[in-house]
Amino acid sequence: MKPPDPAALPHSPAAERNRAPILAVLRALLAPGGRALEIASGTGQHAAHFAAALPGWRWQPTDVAAECFGAITGWAARAGAANVAPPRRLDVRDAPWPSEGAPFSEPFDLIYSANLLHISPPECGPALMQGAARHLAPGGLLVTYGPYLEDGVPTAPGNLAFDQDLRRRHPRGPAPPRGRGAARPGRRPAPARTPRPAGQQPAAGVRAGSLECPPARYQSHS
Ligand SMILES: C[S@@+](CC[C@H](N)C(=O)[O-])C[C@H]1O[C@@H](n2cnc3c(N)ncnc32)[C@H](O)[C@@H]1O
Repeated sequence: MKPPDPAALPHSPAAERNRAPILAVLRALLAPGGRALEIASGTGQHAAHFAAALPGWRWQPTDVAAECFGAITGWAARAGAANVAPPRRLDVRDAPWPSEGAPFSEPFDLIYSANLLHISPPECGPALMQGAARHLAPGGLLVTYGPYLEDGVPTAPGNLAFDQDLRRRHPRGPAPPRGRGAARPGRRPAPARTPRPAGQQPAAGVRAGSLECPPARYQSHS
């Protein structure tokens, strides 16, 4: 079958820019093969790029918006990534995952989500942690990418303005509960080579942590 015309596919310039640095972090973190669940796949550019580059992995894309599914399938076909499963509808706040159809029958070795937490309502953060605790295999990794502000880490004024804007749009609820049980949390800054206009975008970073069983024990790293 002829791959879809890339010009006809929904396209995120940010995903194009950050996919290589994120892939470098994933390569360093991941075993040669496993099962990956992506939350909030959006256009599907990350799913296509990572699955094509990590052929030992089976990649399950999802999004709350079923309108994304054509793009997700299209980008995977364009990349020749046969290891991308058909997308499933998943609202991160639902339990169990996914939101529709048959529940996932096996645990995942990686749960990956990029650019979800800062654009979604506050309850999505704890829901992601709780869902990861339910659906990760022992020793599995939760990896998130996004614009994170960290205590004591200086950032550009434009980043602070972006943060204030997000807080106006999504007033914060109470902080998620903190508990014990997360192992090997870590942060990888976005490499300096990620091109972005100075002061216009927040500093981005990749966070990873494995969640230990039993699933009820989790910790938010945000
Ligand atoms: C900024 S886009 C990020 C897309 C992609 N991960 C990327 O980095 O290019 C945010 C995505 O989150 C999805 N989303 C928003 N709320 C969600 C929720 N409650 N559960 C799952 N996905 C959600 C949106 O439909 C959208 O595709």
